[in-house]
Amino acid sequence: MEPTIEDESTIIEDYDEKIKIMLLGDSIVGKTSLLRKYIENEFSPNFINTVGFDIQIKFLNINNKRIKLQISDTAGQERYRTISKSFYNASEGFIIVYDITKRESFVNVNNWVEQIKEIAPNYSKSIIFGNKCDLTEMREIEIDEGKELANKFNFKFFETSAKDGTNINKGIESLVKEILGDIFSVKSSQKETTVLKKKKHNKVKKSEPCC
Ligand code: GTP
Ligand code: MG
Repeated sequence: MEPTIEDESTIIEDYDEKIKIMLLGDSIVGKTSLLRKYIENEFSPNFINTVGFDIQIKFLNINNKRIKLQISDTAGQERYRTISKSFYNASEGFIIVYDITKRESFVNVNNWVEQIKEIAPNYSKSIIFGNKCDLTEMREIEIDEGKELANKFNFKFFETSAKDGTNINKGIESLVKEILGDIFSVKSSQKETTVLKKKKHNKVKKSEPCC
C-alpha cells in the first residue's frame, strides 16, 4: 500500500512506531532545503547555514500503521556541529547528501559513511541523495557515479531536487520502509517464539496425569 501523508490539522500524538532519521552531508549540499520541501513543500534560493541542528516531525501511514517520523537536520559546517554521539546512536536511519554540482561533496560522502560506521548502531540503514539534480548544466557528478558509490556501501540511491521536489518523498519513504521492514520482522519473530513457547507449554500440560 502506498504511504499517505496526513494534513497537519489531523495530527494527534498517537502512533504505532517512531522512527528517527538524520540528514548528513557537507555544507550547502541542500539538507535544510530538502527537509523544508518535504515538510512544507517550500523552497528558497537563499542560503542560511544551519547552526547546531533542527528537528522536524511528520506522521505517515504505511501499511495501516501510523508512523511518527522524526528527521534531524544537521550542520554541514564543522564549527557549527554540536551533534553528540548519543544523537547518532538514537537514529535508525541516515540520509547522506551530496551536491551533484560539487565533486568535493561527493568525495566526502566516504567520510560521512565512516562517521556513521564508527558511531551509529550497526542495525541502522542509510541512503545517499545526489541533490540539486535540477542544475543539469552545472553537473559534475554523473548519475552512474552516484549509483556506483551507493552500491559499494549497499545503500539505495536517489538523485533529488529540493527545488522541484524530485524523488524526495520516494527516497525518504524507501528508507522508512527499509527500517520498518526490520522492526516488523523482529516483532513477528518475537511473536512466533511466544506462540512456540505456548504450544510447548500446552503439550506438557496434556501429558500430565489428570488426577
Ligand atoms: P548547511 O546548513 O550549512 O549544512 O547547508 P545545507 O546543506 O543545509 O544547505 P541548504 O539547504 O541551506 O542549501 C544551500 C543552498 O543551495 C541554498 O541557496 C539553496 O537554495 C540551494 N539548494 C538546495 N537544494 C537545492 C536544489 O535541489 N536545487 C537548487 N537549484 N538549489 C538548491
Ligand atoms: Mg542546513
